[in-house]
Amino acid sequence: MAAQGIADAVQAYTGLSPAAAFTVGEITLEQLRAYDGKDPAKSILIAIRGQVYDVSRGRLFYGPQGPYSLFAGRDASRALALMSFDLNDLTGDLEGLSPDELEVLQDWEEKFKERYPVVGHLPGENGTAGAQPDHEAEKA
Ligand code: HEM
Repeated sequence: MAAQGIADAVQAYTGLSPAAAFTVGEITLEQLRAYDGKDPAKSILIAIRGQVYDVSRGRLFYGPQGPYSLFAGRDASRALALMSFDLNDLTGDLEGLSPDELEVLQDWEEKFKERYPVVGHLPGENGTAGAQPDHEAEKA
C-alpha cells in the first residue's frame, strides 16, 4: 500500500531501517491481513483495542512458524482477553467479557505498548480516527 511505498522510499533515501519509518495510519481489518508475517519483506502487525502494533521484532512469536502466528495480521483483542487460541476469538468484539478478562486484556495492551511501536489504528470509535489529521492528508 502507499504507506509501504513511502517507507521504502524513505529507507532508500535515508538508510534508516523500515521499522523506524513504517506507519500505516488508518488500516482496515482486511488490509491488516496482508501483514501476517508470511511475506518476509512486510512488517507483522497485530491490532489490540483499535491500535495497530508492529510486532516484527517478535517474528519468532508471530511469524509463520511461531506459537502465536494466529494473531499476526489480526485483531487479537478478544483472544488475548480470554487467553484463547480459538480463531473465533480473533476479533475486536469485547461483548460479554468479565471485568477480570478486560483486565487481562489491559495487561496485554500495556505489554505490547512497552515492547512494540504503534504504527496505526483501525477505523471507528476504537481507533483514534480523526485524532491524526496528517493521515487525512495522506488519503487525499
Ligand atoms: C501452555 C501455555 C503457554 C506457555 C507455556 C506460554 C509461554 C510463553 C513464554 C515463555 C513467553 C515469553 C515470555 C517473555 O518473552 O517474557 C510467552 C509470551 C506470550 N504469550 Fe504465551 N504461553 C502459553 C499460553 C499462551 C496463551 C493461551 C496466549 C494467548 C492466547 C499466549 C500469548 C502470549 C503472548 C501474546 C506473548 C507475548 C509475546 C511477545 O513478547 O510479543 N500464551 N508465552
